[in-house]
Amino acid sequence: MKKINIAIDGPAAAGKSTAAKKVAEKLNYIYIDTGAMYRSLTYKALENGVDVEDGKALAELLYRTEIRLMSGECGQVVFVDGEDVTGKIREREVTNSVSAVSKHRTVREEMVKRQQALAKGGGIVMDGRDIGTRVLPDAELKIFLLASVDERAERRHAENLAKGIPSNLNELKREIEERDRLDSEREVSPLCKAKDAVELDTTHLGIEEVADKILELAREKIAQ
Ligand code: CDP
Ligand code: CDP
Repeated sequence: MKKINIAIDGPAAAGKSTAAKKVAEKLNYIYIDTGAMYRSLTYKALENGVDVEDGKALAELLYRTEIRLMSGECGQVVFVDGEDVTGKIREREVTNSVSAVSKHRTVREEMVKRQQALAKGGGIVMDGRDIGTRVLPDAELKIFLLASVDERAERRHAENLAKGIPSNLNELKREIEERDRLDSEREVSPLCKAKDAVELDTTHLGIEEVADKILELAREKIAQ
């Protein structure tokens, strides 16, 4: 059967990775979380005391850093230079610095190169901010996931509480809004909907409904 590439973009906590993982599982495709790659570099920069405003130093750090995304029994596992950073890259300090790191052209060029190499064989579901516009402009299916900021903050808040992570809903909402602003206003590959992307507002949709809608669209493309 024909294998297509699926690009899923959208703002923070819109449900991209949850949907992407489900769709990949159902189609037996490979899921690639590009946010985890930017988070990994941010983690490494903070560990090494590299200034998040210094694009040249960040790119040099990235060139010598190996980032591996692997699927484990309990979901995706992320290794940076052999260290399991799966939990660490979701911590607040990383989350609140990642947009600064990801705005640099030098960093993005190297990341895009790596992401395109990973997607070469097809059968990929990739999520991020610039997948439909920059990384996989020829993807057969592009989805732009949205949800109101209140709903997105609620979702992350619930997720934090379920994991036993201290969480303040109002702060979370402010941080999400700030990250969306930085990601949307940056000069290089800002967060925006590709012209040929299908927009899906998930504010009132459950996880399964979102995944089913994407699967329906994917199956149409596969059959074409
Ligand atoms: O899961 P969440 O929506 O919180 O974020 P993520 O997908 O893990 O992405 C973390 C950050 O990485 C984003 O806020 C962007 O600054 C950056 N990113 C990007 O610039 N381009 C991508 N393709 C993916 C992520
Ligand atoms: O990848 P992204 O940051 O866009 O979002 P996510 O990590 O997939 O989803 C954020 C949270 O919202 C997770 O805890 C999901 O389980 C939850 N979610 C939801 O409650 N309803 C949806 N329709 C989608 C996601």
